[in-house]
Amino acid sequence: MPILTDISTLYTCKLDGGQDEVHPIIGATIAWEDETIQWVGSARDAPAGLDTAMQYSADGQVVVPGLVDCHTHIGFGGWREDEFEQRIKGAGYLEIAEAGGGIQKTVRQTREATNEDLTTHCLAVLEEMVRLGVTTVECKSGYGLSEEAELQMLRIYMSLKELQPVRLVSTFLGAHVIPPEYSDDRAGYVSLLCDTLIPQIQEDDLATFCDVFVEEGAFSGEEAEKILRSAQDAGMQSKLHADQLSDGGGGALAARLGAISADHLEYTSTAGIDTMADAGVVGVCLPFASLYLNQQPMQGRKFVRAGVRLAVATDFNPGSAPSYHLPLAMMLACTMSRFTPAEALKGATIHAALALGLESSVGSIEKGKRADFAILDVSDVNHWMYHFRSNACTRTFIGGIPQD
Ligand code: NIG
Ligand code: FE
Repeated sequence: MPILTDISTLYTCKLDGGQDEVHPIIGATIAWEDETIQWVGSARDAPAGLDTAMQYSADGQVVVPGLVDCHTHIGFGGWREDEFEQRIKGAGYLEIAEAGGGIQKTVRQTREATNEDLTTHCLAVLEEMVRLGVTTVECKSGYGLSEEAELQMLRIYMSLKELQPVRLVSTFLGAHVIPPEYSDDRAGYVSLLCDTLIPQIQEDDLATFCDVFVEEGAFSGEEAEKILRSAQDAGMQSKLHADQLSDGGGGALAARLGAISADHLEYTSTAGIDTMADAGVVGVCLPFASLYLNQQPMQGRKFVRAGVRLAVATDFNPGSAPSYHLPLAMMLACTMSRFTPAEALKGATIHAALALGLESSVGSIEKGKRADFAILDVSDVNHWMYHFRSNACTRTFIGGIPQD
């Protein structure tokens, strides 16, 4: 049975306890068979016979569960660095979108990209993510916005599962914005989603979740409800881009729909936060989006106080969040949204797994779970978040296999 020893502190990140309870073990050992963890504990208590086969050393470094990026828009063509400059000069995100830029620009560039372009782009990003310690990634469609282009992106995500080791979870975000072909026929586009795309996605089993961007310039609460109910009937659980640029009642809508997560939440009201807590909706903090758009960050303390379980993710996309550096997003969750380092760690591990319905297989280091972990050259979680470096991860294991 392969083992990993000489771990200074192992943050097991079990689900129980509050946002800041990461269940550390000092001087730990992990043993696994094939892809599955068989034993975890203090090296002193290790049963005899564990270290007979392959032995890896953490060299006295810290080990955390493989990080889970539970919100990305990884599949897109082209970038939008021109808008980055325009926003710094004073243009607003919605203003750029109204002039044909923003998401619509990426839709044009994604439709022009070939299957091979999109696959190569995703593979390169995933490889870099693994180096940062990331082992599970949620991938949204939403830059195709036609029947053909949305299905193509979801099929590329399926094929990527066979091409590389990161565990991928697909989300259908056909309801990102209304595409130009339907600018005068919103109802027609909602029907295309509900009556054509959702049934096709169900038939080919192309997505686990359905997401809607609820915002001025995107979709209304009523439209979101219709789309997400159709998706639920087709077996897809709900997610929402909620209250990113204004309070659109997204937190409460997520609660009413029984969504697994509500993401962004920069402007969610106290009442909305309370309904999320009661309904057990995971709140996903996306610090890059508020940083790049110069918006108020999500108020982390209010959510923690209300008892909402919080995750942290990158929101990687070519507009509002052009970075896939999850440890940097975690550090920003600390500095901007006032998470403690331990809270951010729980947010990028077991709570992120919870936001994907994968909490029984990934996100913590426990017997029976997948042997996904990251070794970090840091003294503890506080030092990791405080002394930000390009990459503190020295080795990533996925399914028990070192990725180097
Ligand atoms: O999550 N909010 C909507 N969608 C993305 C932004 C996409 C873009 O700007 O291309 C987000 O921030
Ligand atoms: Fe997003």
